[in-house]
Amino acid sequence: MKNLPRLGVNIDHVATLRNARGENYPSPLRAALLCKEYGADGITAHLREDRRHINDGDILEIKKKVDLPLNFEMAPTSEMLQIAIKTKPNACCIVPEKREEVTTEGGIDVIRNHKSLVNLIRELKDNSIRVSLFIDPSNDQITAAKDIGADIIEIHTGEFCKNVHLGLNFESSFEKIKEASFFANHMGLEVHLGHGITFESIEKLSEIEEIKEFNIGHFIISESIFLGLKDTIYEFKRLIEKGRTSK
Ligand code: PXP
Repeated sequence: MKNLPRLGVNIDHVATLRNARGENYPSPLRAALLCKEYGADGITAHLREDRRHINDGDILEIKKKVDLPLNFEMAPTSEMLQIAIKTKPNACCIVPEKREEVTTEGGIDVIRNHKSLVNLIRELKDNSIRVSLFIDPSNDQITAAKDIGADIIEIHTGEFCKNVHLGLNFESSFEKIKEASFFANHMGLEVHLGHGITFESIEKLSEIEEIKEFNIGHFIISESIFLGLKDTIYEFKRLIEKGRTSK
């Protein structure tokens, strides 16, 4: 099968569940090991400033014991930069972070944050870490991401996914993602997608030829309650292939 997009599983919410009771289960490490066994292509984890789900120990353990590329999501702070350099993940995905938000609400504004991003990106790259910027589907942001030295952009799919789930018209939000993916690929950036993706939205997104990777978390962990992690991953992989080959 030619070049299907990779599936990265975000295991943050295994830690959310663990932390809800202050126990040592369910284990994010165990989840990550099983994700590999069931065919996931990568593991994503977001070490938040407030450590509300994943903690420092989880990151180190997963990097050490799971033989899959680690996509380390982080806010652009010097604390996270030091942890990234120590951990040496395959890639760092830079995300905006607000303490009061429930989840990452939008992409990072690369233009406005140029000053705080430029040195951080250089240091990551000097340490052989690929840099991904989580941005909204905007050509100005993509151009700024390229100029500042990113290797990858991850496009925030929240608006499109919400439209799909609410049964609203999703064409214009889909076109925005599609056009941004084409533009970014043309600029020499690798294109990933993430946020809010479910079984309902993955097939359509998989039609976009430029996509190299999906990063999906909340729905995978949620659906695992009913289907189990294995069948949830299998179903995502089946739908990715279906979407990609239906064109
Ligand atoms: N990609 C990025 C950059 C994110 O911040 C998140 C949310 O943590 C995800 C992907 C996964 O989003 P979701 O949990 O909605 O699948």
